[in-house]
Amino acid sequence: MHGECTDVPCVPDTARDHIENAKRNIRVKSYPCMERAGLVWTYMGPAGEEPDFPELEWTMVPPAHRYTTRHVQECNWLQALEGGFDAPHLTFLHRGGETEASRNFVPSFYEVQGTDFGFIVATGRDTGEPLIKWNLNIMLMPFHKIISTQPFAAHMWVPVDDGNTMLYSIDFRPDRPLSEQELERAKGGDWIHTENGPEPDHALRNKRNDYMIDRELQASGVSYTGIKGFGTQDCAVQESMGSIVDRSLEHLLMGDAAIVKLRRLLLQALRDNADGKPLMGIDPRSYRVRSTRVELPRGADMTAAMSELVRVDKVAAQ
Ligand SMILES: [Fe+2]
Repeated sequence: MHGECTDVPCVPDTARDHIENAKRNIRVKSYPCMERAGLVWTYMGPAGEEPDFPELEWTMVPPAHRYTTRHVQECNWLQALEGGFDAPHLTFLHRGGETEASRNFVPSFYEVQGTDFGFIVATGRDTGEPLIKWNLNIMLMPFHKIISTQPFAAHMWVPVDDGNTMLYSIDFRPDRPLSEQELERAKGGDWIHTENGPEPDHALRNKRNDYMIDRELQASGVSYTGIKGFGTQDCAVQESMGSIVDRSLEHLLMGDAAIVKLRRLLLQALRDNADGKPLMGIDPRSYRVRSTRVELPRGADMTAAMSELVRVDKVAAQ
């Protein structure tokens, strides 16, 4: 279907010219669509310049290798994306209920680098040991994040309108199907996926019920927020600041270095687009990357190393 008028009902046969004119001249805007990994994808750029579908790894693995959910996040796309790439919040917002060392507060270094696929956000945790623990997460233009956990996790923040974003969340393994335990964690509501309902595509714990915050749990110290689930915790802070926060009131400090660089890169991409320059992520092969974790000696040049650290020769199913 290409948006053509195919018929004009309820007019007499003598109005043949009227019908043919309508078929020739009336169109609704339409975009080419395709199905991949259980989702319908569309291309909204200039006609005739469609690139091939990107080599986005979670879409290339067999269905049993991935688990996918979605829900409407009630804030602006950029606000949600920035929350996803903010490193210091892990230490606070998601603390509780487990003893993972990455939740401990330590001084950290932040690097962001633009690439042909989007950018890399690297956070180096200085735990006082000789090696700095670097966590490299990738942003694949225009709205994907691949998280360096095992199984890998991913988010897609797809704009709906200025105040709403459809957040897709994915767990996936290139090498094998997700195990029972991995699926159990994904479906349990404590990880990145929200439990939805009763409204379709809306989280059960949402701003209308104060994210079902449990003040007693929070006061007990077991949970920093008293809110169940990483995904819901993220939504709570990203939505509750207002659907589009007033950036002129911000005070960006060292811990926001990644956010500052990320904004500069996005602004550069807008300028490049206006100037007709090639855009990041257009080459399908540029997506041959994986987020990763690595330990490097203190003082090692992460800026020089980060691009090669995330690149792979091929992604799943090739
Ligand atoms: Fe988070």
